[in-house]
Amino acid sequence: MTPFHLHQKTILITGASSGIGAQTAISAAQMGATVILSGRNREKLEQVKQSLAAGEHSIVTADLTKPEDRDLLIQTIAAVDGIVHSAGAVEVFPVKLMNEEELERQLLLNYKAPFLITAGLSKNRKLNKGCSIVFISSISGQHPFKGGAVYAASKASIEALSKTIALEYSTQNIRSNCISPALVKTKILDESIQSLGRDKVDHHQERYPLGFGEPEDVANAAVFLLSDASKWITGTNLILDGGFLLNK
Ligand SMILES: NC(=O)c1ccc[n+]([C@@H]2O[C@H](COP(=O)([O-])OP(=O)(O)OC[C@H]3O[C@@H](n4cnc5c(N)ncnc54)[C@H](OP(=O)(O)O)[C@@H]3O)[C@@H](O)[C@H]2O)c1
Repeated sequence: MTPFHLHQKTILITGASSGIGAQTAISAAQMGATVILSGRNREKLEQVKQSLAAGEHSIVTADLTKPEDRDLLIQTIAAVDGIVHSAGAVEVFPVKLMNEEELERQLLLNYKAPFLITAGLSKNRKLNKGCSIVFISSISGQHPFKGGAVYAASKASIEALSKTIALEYSTQNIRSNCISPALVKTKILDESIQSLGRDKVDHHQERYPLGFGEPEDVANAAVFLLSDASKWITGTNLILDGGFLLNK
């Protein structure tokens, strides 16, 4: 059988109610995975669950910035063979307008929550041997943009965390990798059009030889990293940018 399948694997996907996380849930289920979908919006999670290929999929609603919700997620779910940490948000603030509270709030969702969930699952022996952890980072982690200081810092930190996990967990055959997309057509792109205007976004797209990404482009890479086809890959950061960085 092809090593690219996800049969007999239980995969936790955060941010599964929308965009990249939702598509990753769909693609992972198509490849045979049992998916645990997490997000805050139950209705949207139910919609995504309805569109999954048949399986024993489940939903855990959780606001990952709340310790009690993170604990609930960690305690409720069965041991996993893979995690895709996709929950996240981009908020644009010039450095001089940032205060400590805002800084903490953004770091909590984009960096501390995936860190603490991974640590909590590990402490509770819920990372099966051979588990594959995938963090959805961003090219901003290495190529920041004006106003993106906290977002870029959170993604750079996730990349450092992922490499550390790759080192610490290799004896259990647990792998950890990042995917760093450039702009993908999700709510984040819609918000960029609203804040910057369509002209600016269209102009930006001209710098992408292959255009902006689709959620499927990221989901396919995540499925590969979750599968045994990537069993010798750990501690890497896969850039998905449609050629954008060639023009940077
Ligand atoms: N789209 C891009 O261009 C792009 C590029 C590079 C990297 N990324 C990264 O890709 C990931 C997914 O982004 P996306 O484009 O798919 O965005 P999206 O469509 O806005 O999805 C964000 C997801 O995060 C969840 N979320 C937000 N706040 C949460 C909270 N407090 N607790 C739990 N879940 C929360 C949302 O679910 P609920 O609303 O149900 O809570 C939603 O499912 C993010 O980490 C982002 O940084 C995106």
